[in-house]
Amino acid sequence: MKLVESLLKSPNTSMFDVEQIRADFPILKLKIDGKPLVYLDNAASSQMPQPVIDRMTKYQTMQHANINRAVHYLSETATAEYEKSRHKLKNFINANEEREIIFTSGTTDAINLVAHGYGRKFICSGDEIILTTLEHHSNIVPWQMLAEETGAKIRVVPINDEGELLIEEYKQLFNKHTKFVGVTHVSNALGTINPIKQMIEFAHARGVPILVDGAQTAPHMNIDVQDLDCDFYTFSGHKLCGPTGIGILYGKAILLERMQPFKGGGDMIASVTFEKTTYNTIPHKFEAGTPPIAAAIGFGAAVDYLSSVDLSAIEAYERNLINYATEQISHIPGIRIIGSATEKVAVLSFSVDRIHPHDIGTLLNQEGIAVRTGHHCAQPVMQHYKVPATTRASFSFYNTMVEVDALISGIQKVQKVFL
Ligand code: ALA
Repeated sequence: MKLVESLLKSPNTSMFDVEQIRADFPILKLKIDGKPLVYLDNAASSQMPQPVIDRMTKYQTMQHANINRAVHYLSETATAEYEKSRHKLKNFINANEEREIIFTSGTTDAINLVAHGYGRKFICSGDEIILTTLEHHSNIVPWQMLAEETGAKIRVVPINDEGELLIEEYKQLFNKHTKFVGVTHVSNALGTINPIKQMIEFAHARGVPILVDGAQTAPHMNIDVQDLDCDFYTFSGHKLCGPTGIGILYGKAILLERMQPFKGGGDMIASVTFEKTTYNTIPHKFEAGTPPIAAAIGFGAAVDYLSSVDLSAIEAYERNLINYATEQISHIPGIRIIGSATEKVAVLSFSVDRIHPHDIGTLLNQEGIAVRTGHHCAQPVMQHYKVPATTRASFSFYNTMVEVDALISGIQKVQKVFL
């Protein structure tokens, strides 16, 4: 208990009132079989606070119409609110201009857009794409599809047993054929924070553009794309207290302008004849069809909410949570922590001797505790550790030390049942 007391007194968290924050999230009051919900599956999807729910309800009840298409009041209101969200997202990641923010259906959609829109145009047979062992399948498969189509080759940065990228090996992979790098900012399976600034600098010194998958970063720490100088950055709304079905691709304007559109349809054109179609300017060139307008507006509200909490306070608070959880779980016999990088977010992946992760997940659920079990869409990570699956507790700023204690006693109960 001493550790908790000292963590709670930490100067970094003195301004952070977790109970006040929890009061904003109606779902956290749920009981599962009479037990309070302990929601530790935030890396898969986080929960929505009331202001985001309210904002979406207001749009649906009083402001809905299609955007960019008509001069009537509702269409103009919806268009203005949609564009206001783009502006909020631009500020959230410190992009240079609104037109560098493309609304997508999420991170997967954004990476596919780059693989098709950039890759098909600029990557050819014999070219090489560098990825890493820590990638989610969504930053592997689109590039493999491109490689199959073009004859390009994928090169992979290995990791050490702590789950950290081997940066010297990354550097060794570059040669005259290297045309693109895709790297996750934070590993969804292990929580490792990659040294992306260093990786970006190295790639740029060789004239190679780089895409950063920020799906697991955005809810945990500040992002400044101008400071990072990445070429592309992407994340999803539903992992940062927003709705599903929406995300962004940030791209440097000069690259987005040179890319070809991936989806064709309404709104992404300047003119259409059967002889020739010309495309709209960015960002509209990449937003074919009616977008998820309510989700985009909810995404803007989520960014407002997170900014009001202060991401630096969130980062400090979550660091305390993961330190405490790691310390507590390491006292349980038969536990193997998978991924112990020096720099990591609040993700705790582990296995328990002689108990399958799915059994752990099922029994924890009976205690009201939600964790994810499986390969986490990161099979190369599992292959490195020679495990088929792990149990993953992923924390958010609305989780508490008491919930960490519930997880620990839940695991001990599971062991009593099976061992
Ligand atoms: N990418 C999400 C996860 O890690 C779904 O669980």
